[in-house]
Amino acid sequence: MQLTREEQAMLDGEHGPAVRKAMQILSALGKIYGAEDMIPVTSVQVAGVSYDNLGEAGLDWLREMADGGGRAQVLTTLNPAGLDLENWPALGIDPAFAERQGQVIEAFQRMGIIPSCTCTPYLSGNRPNMGEHIAWAESSAVCYANSVLGARTNREGGPSALAAALTGRTPNYGLHLDANRRPNLTVAVEAKLSGGHTYGALGKAIGERMQAAGIKPIPVLTRLEKASGDELKALCASLATYGGGALFHIQGITPEAHHYPLPADGFSVTAADLADASQSMSDADPGEIDFASLGCPHLSIDEIAYIARLLDGKRVHGELWLTTARATRREADRLGYSSLIEASGAKFAADTCCVVAPIQGRFTAMAADSAKACYYAAAKHRLRTWFGSVEEVIERMT
Ligand code: F3S
Repeated sequence: MQLTREEQAMLDGEHGPAVRKAMQILSALGKIYGAEDMIPVTSVQVAGVSYDNLGEAGLDWLREMADGGGRAQVLTTLNPAGLDLENWPALGIDPAFAERQGQVIEAFQRMGIIPSCTCTPYLSGNRPNMGEHIAWAESSAVCYANSVLGARTNREGGPSALAAALTGRTPNYGLHLDANRRPNLTVAVEAKLSGGHTYGALGKAIGERMQAAGIKPIPVLTRLEKASGDELKALCASLATYGGGALFHIQGITPEAHHYPLPADGFSVTAADLADASQSMSDADPGEIDFASLGCPHLSIDEIAYIARLLDGKRVHGELWLTTARATRREADRLGYSSLIEASGAKFAADTCCVVAPIQGRFTAMAADSAKACYYAAAKHRLRTWFGSVEEVIERMT
């Protein structure tokens, strides 16, 4: 790989041990993927923040990087942590876990990283523009940044994203290059979509089909007349989860779709396909649902406003979490939505989510409007799941 003089100095340790380690990680990745050089990045999103995923080894590594002088060189934000940083006791989090999670956040802060703790950084001040090269971890946000914003990032892991933050560089390969952003199949969406959960079901239907065909997945979707930012957020999370997607285009909607001709290969998704996808995420008996979570990816202020209207005057049975960014929670407080929501017995779980919080063994079955949440609740927490619209989830819990 061709390195600039400054990059070589980083690799030689002239900027301290943390930057040397970071440049070693990036150089190794660049060699594996055939990058010719590094490119500067303007924004980083680091994943691997929950102590539930990091454990003691991960915490030690973060401390080592902070002690070694690692400091973020560009705007760098964090994925959700394992708890609500301000209100964790209300979520039943063990104090010992809270103490370790606090140390993780402290290590990130020492490196100059903003403890935003959200998987929707694009709703909270880290929103790159079209064509910007960035280095993001968090598969749903990667898919959103590439597809909806037209920024350019590979699917980084926690260590490679942190390395990009500390050097301001990433290896120039994959989705940073024009040639790798071309769609390779056309997906005609023949089903009528309504509400974020249907976009989640669509992502599952498309993603599984791509996986089964072994296709490197860059679909272009046709026949979708409109999609809101919140619906696209749901589609991104689902397509990334079920199909490994990091980029898609939608004719007439996403910013790069018109750059390319429609690929000849493809398939269509019908109403029956969506119904099958939805059905496959519901193995729980409605009577055994004792937990529900809305906000995967994290809720926008619009979604919170809608949920507040749905919960107004109702009483929640069991545990209902609303997961969102701290900044969005504060906006909900200011606008009066939080008091309406909390009066119903629903709980905000800011800074965290039902997947990265340590909830193993606490619940039997979870209701959710998110295809991604259903996947990980089953895979990680061994919960049975029930998938439906936000209205249906709230109806089940009240
Ligand atoms: Fe975000 Fe957690 Fe879902 S990180 S995308 S709310 S699994």
